[in-house]
Amino acid sequence: MNICVIGTGYVGLVTGTCFADFGVNVVCVDKDAEKIAMLNRGDIPIYEPGLKELVHKNVGQKRLSFTTDLGESIKKSLAIFIAVGTPPRDDGSADLSYIEEVAGTIAENLNGYKVVVTKSTVPVGTGSLIEKIIEKGQTGSHKFDVASNPEFLREGSAIEDFMRPNRVVVGARSSQAIAILKDLYSPLYLIETPFIVTGIETAELIKYASNAFLATKISFINEMANICEKVGADIHQVAKGMGLDKRIGPKFLHPGPGYGGSCFPKDTMAITKIARENGYTFKIVEATVEVNERQRDIMVEKIKKVMGSSLRGKKIGVLGLTFKPNTDDIRESPAIDIVNKLLEEGALISAYDPAGMANSRKAVNSPIAFCNDEYEVADQSDALVIATEWNQFRKLDMARIKNMLKTAKLIDLRNVYDPAGMKEMGFEYISVGR
Ligand code: UDX
Repeated sequence: MNICVIGTGYVGLVTGTCFADFGVNVVCVDKDAEKIAMLNRGDIPIYEPGLKELVHKNVGQKRLSFTTDLGESIKKSLAIFIAVGTPPRDDGSADLSYIEEVAGTIAENLNGYKVVVTKSTVPVGTGSLIEKIIEKGQTGSHKFDVASNPEFLREGSAIEDFMRPNRVVVGARSSQAIAILKDLYSPLYLIETPFIVTGIETAELIKYASNAFLATKISFINEMANICEKVGADIHQVAKGMGLDKRIGPKFLHPGPGYGGSCFPKDTMAITKIARENGYTFKIVEATVEVNERQRDIMVEKIKKVMGSSLRGKKIGVLGLTFKPNTDDIRESPAIDIVNKLLEEGALISAYDPAGMANSRKAVNSPIAFCNDEYEVADQSDALVIATEWNQFRKLDMARIKNMLKTAKLIDLRNVYDPAGMKEMGFEYISVGR
C-alpha cells in the first residue's frame, strides 16, 4: 500500500518511518525544503533515539522517501496522514490553518478514493471541517473518507510507543476506511494490540482526555508534594502507597517543576477552550493548568530561599534545559521558564544540557553561559540546580561538584538524589516534597 504522511515533525517523521518499517510504501512530505533536503541527505532534524537508524534502513530498502511535492504524493497514495502542527493561539485555542491548507491541497489533487487521516491532535470536529473543505474544493466527484487516528507518542520513546502501543484508536464512519487502517496496523495484530474503532469526534476526544488526565495526574502529585513539605511527609512514599492501588497505578506520579513539552500544555488549554466554546467549564483541567504554571514559581521561591533574600549577582548553575530527558525539545520547558525567572531576579546563569542547548539559545531572555559539561556548570557557582533528570546527572562526582561550588547548595527539582546521602556529604540539599 502507498501512503503519504504530511508533516515531518516529531509525529509525522516517526509515523512515516514506522509505517515504512511495517512494510508500507511511505512518502513523507513537508513544505520546508530545507528539512526535506536534510532528510534526503540522511540527517534527522529532530533528536529521537533510534530514529536515524530506522530512517536509513527504510530509505535504503526503498520504502521511505521525502519530498516537498504534496500534490504528486497525494495522487499516488491511498491513505493520507495529516501530521502538521496545530499550535496554540494566544487565546489557547488550536490554530488549524495548516490543517485547512493541507485539506485544500488534498481537494485539488483528489484523483480517486482516499482515506484522509488526522494524526496530529486536533480539536473535536476537525474531521468534519476537513470533510467540508475537500467536498467543496474537489473538482471531480471522487468518494473519500476522513478518519481520526490520534498518536500517543512520547518524545524520547516515540518509536517504542508506535511499535508497541497500549492501544490503537480509529475514528471513522465507513467500513472501507476502517478496513484500510486495520490493514495498515496489521503487524500489531501479532502482539494483540487493542483496537478501538469509534466515531471521529469520539476518537478526537480520547486523545484530549488522555493527555488532560495525565497532565492532571502530574499537577495532582505536585500539589501533594507541596503539602508534604508543609506537614513533613515524604512524597515518594505517598506516591508509592498511592501507586500500588491498581486503579491509580504508579506512572506519572513523579513530582517536579511541572509538565512541559509540545503536548500537555497545548492539549490542556485546547480542551478547556473547546469546553467553554460549548458552554461548559472544565474546572479540573483549568486548575491543572493553573497549578502547573504556579509550580514553576514555587521552584524559583525554593531557589531564592536557599540563596538568602536576593539572587542579584548570584551565580546559579543549571543542569538540564529540555522539558524532559532524551529529547532536544525545550517547548514549554519548566527549566527554561525557571532560568528566565532567575534571570529576571538578576542571577547569572550557567547551564548544560546534553541535547537542548542549541534550541535553548533562542528561548532564554538574556545571555547565559552554555557550558560543556556538568562540572563546568558547578565551577564557582553559588548553587547548583538539577532541572531535568537526564541519566548522566544521576551519578555525578558529588565530592568534585562540592569542591567546585562556591557554597555547597544543591536544589534537586527532580528528586534524583537521596536527601540523607547529600546531607552526609555536607550539602545544603533541597528537593521537592521530601
Ligand atoms: C505526552 C504523552 O505522554 C503522550 O502520550 C502524548 O502523545 C504526547 O504528550 P510527552 O509530552 O512527549 O508525551 O512526554 P511525557 O513523558 O508524557 O512527559 C510530559 C511532561 O510531564 C514532561 O515535562 C515530564 O517531565 C512531565 N512529567 C511526566 C512529570 O513531571 N511527572 C511525571 O510523573 C511524568
